[in-house]
Amino acid sequence: MIGYLTTEQFLPELREELKDIKSTHGNLILADGPLQESVWAHNIWLDPQLITFESITQAAKALKDLGKLWTPVTYEHHRRAQLIQDQLPKLRSRVMDFLAPLPDNNLGAWTLIDKNTLIASPRTDSPFPMGEVRFNEDKINPPSRAYLKLWELFTVFGIMPKPGERVVDFGSCPGGWTWVLQKIGCEVVSIDRAPLEPRIAKLPRIEFIKTNAFTVKPEDIGKIDWFFSDIICYPEKLLELVLAWQKSGLCENFVCTIKFQGATDFVTLKKFQALENATVRHLRHNKHEVTVWIKKSSS
Ligand SMILES: C[S@@+](CC[C@H](N)C(=O)[O-])C[C@H]1O[C@@H](n2cnc3c(N)ncnc32)[C@H](O)[C@@H]1O
Repeated sequence: MIGYLTTEQFLPELREELKDIKSTHGNLILADGPLQESVWAHNIWLDPQLITFESITQAAKALKDLGKLWTPVTYEHHRRAQLIQDQLPKLRSRVMDFLAPLPDNNLGAWTLIDKNTLIASPRTDSPFPMGEVRFNEDKINPPSRAYLKLWELFTVFGIMPKPGERVVDFGSCPGGWTWVLQKIGCEVVSIDRAPLEPRIAKLPRIEFIKTNAFTVKPEDIGKIDWFFSDIICYPEKLLELVLAWQKSGLCENFVCTIKFQGATDFVTLKKFQALENATVRHLRHNKHEVTVWIKKSSS
């Protein structure tokens, strides 16, 4: 059995993608093992077990016997859950700086399913409570909060270009991604129909092209190391753009936001997942959208 936790908003998507679901508890879905690839789970509970208990002290002791660091997930019996958690070792804040090393231990997680029963997994796949990284945000420099998606990808997943690499940033206005990419030392070709915020546009190593991204041919830009896109468009249209760049042979690394308008487009999502070396995840900083990255295996 494996547990898959998401937020209330994306529970329907998680239910849609998982097979062999056994039960749902709040936003936690238990499914028969083995581990399934999941786009929508923020936190995977690797060894969930059912524990029955009579008293709060007994519950806390059972958890302490199983593991060291616990994060509670509550959807009912909040007060009782808090009293149990109060008896467990305190978890220090894990708010992260951009590119800081990840905490070296992943957390355990538990939830009360009724007054006398809890599900506890001493191992999860994340060092952050509910799998959700929080950053010490830069409230001054970036022109939008979209930069947090790249901070998360770079810091948590280690997927990022190297200084000096040439990247294209499609749908770049007002300039959050372009700002992140410029700041880590990339040469950025930044493309949008709308202008960049002027203080971003005048930073060094940024070439801004004001145009419709779908009229730009790969040969117009030439060889690049990374393709970034945060364009608001239908997933199918983004897929066409990515395929055109793959076909051109002018780029091998891709990071894109697939944005859904209305219902989630599972059909196109599957096509992205089927691309060679593609990973698709709903990041904590994604709204009704997911992030796909395709990385050349040796870079
Ligand atoms: C979510 S915003 C991007 C935010 C940006 N990544 C940031 O960090 O500030 C989406 C952008 O896509 C742009 N966009 C939508 N369709 C476009 C197109 N066909 N060509 C170029 N840009 C487009 C919009 O103008 C908008 O600025």
